[in-house]
Amino acid sequence: MMKIIAFGIREDEQVAVDAWVAKHPDVQVDTTNELLTPETAPMAAGYDVVNILQAGVPVGEATLKQLADLGIHILTLRNVGTDDLDFEMLKKYNFHVSNVPRYSPNAIAEHAMIQMARLFRHMKQMDIKVYRHDLAWAPTIGREVRKQTIGIVGTGNIGRVAIQIAQGFGAKVIAYDKYQNPELAAKGLYVDTLDELLAQADGISLHVPGIPENHYLINPDSIAKMKDHAVIVNAGRGNLVDTDAVIAALDSGKLDGFAMDTYEDEGGLFNVDWAGQDFPDPRVADLITRENVIVSPHTAFYTWTASEEMVEQSLDAGLAFFNGETPEQVVKF
Ligand SMILES: NC(=O)c1ccc[n+]([C@@H]2O[C@H](COP(=O)([O-])OP(=O)(O)OC[C@H]3O[C@@H](n4cnc5c(N)ncnc54)[C@H](O)[C@@H]3O)[C@@H](O)[C@H]2O)c1
Repeated sequence: MMKIIAFGIREDEQVAVDAWVAKHPDVQVDTTNELLTPETAPMAAGYDVVNILQAGVPVGEATLKQLADLGIHILTLRNVGTDDLDFEMLKKYNFHVSNVPRYSPNAIAEHAMIQMARLFRHMKQMDIKVYRHDLAWAPTIGREVRKQTIGIVGTGNIGRVAIQIAQGFGAKVIAYDKYQNPELAAKGLYVDTLDELLAQADGISLHVPGIPENHYLINPDSIAKMKDHAVIVNAGRGNLVDTDAVIAALDSGKLDGFAMDTYEDEGGLFNVDWAGQDFPDPRVADLITRENVIVSPHTAFYTWTASEEMVEQSLDAGLAFFNGETPEQVVKF
């Protein structure tokens, strides 16, 4: 019987693992909530496939050599990012690797457009007022989403779903991508430059990768090109946004709101419960308290559907490798 060991399994993922196992009675999948490290690698003895989601914990020679010595050469990731992996060592020890590059784009697109709508309607401000028993209407009057122009930067898997959702509100949608999608182009949704999008949009949502050339796409210059009272949603990557520039623009009143799901210094900060402890990042502490800023800790993706897809695709990929096939999620290196 083929045996898979999955490291770093969260409770929500265990549900998806159990569902997958029910459909694959010929495969044994054992799980641990420990991450894969040189110390935990011996737990993989007797297994054929190692399945991981590391989120910042490196997988280098100390770990890979141990797995190879145990006869394991299949490593499947439950997420997209391969930054934690030492590819030279993966090559040296003859590993097959897969990741999950596409899982429920709707999870992220929904989150981004929900936050955009909340910013236009000043929902956070209203929630805080109601929590304080202030049930007066004024001055918390909102802007209807359908009357806004929403600018989608990046029209890949996620950006395209965000467009559909924004159109569902009845908003005017414009888009910018370096490589235009023919279907969207035929619908006349594209503007030719990022500057045009910045100049026309009331709400800007970022759906491009955090590659070095996109570092600080949103900076003092690009903010100056935006409409007064624009709002920005960043559920892309933290490094797309110069956070200090956004804070300055919120302070000056140039920007009306900001929703931040990804943050340039989020490593070690997000996905940790800081309740009752000193909060380590004064800038985020400040942003969290602002009524026109909505912070979420990189949870745009965090839905049952996405969790299920990440688990299922990674287990499927492990099975395919084991059977001598190449899954579509193979990482080439
Ligand atoms: N917040 C979350 O939980 C979460 C989860 C998954 C992905 N993401 C982020 O969302 C991003 C988009 O994901 P996707 O699946 O849609 O990716 P994708 O590769 O399908 O699409 C990205 C698009 O961005 C375009 N692009 C890249 N640089 C650009 C630039 N400077 N200007 C204009 N267009 C540019 C590309 O041509 C491509 O069409 C990912 O890169 C990731 O950083 C966030």
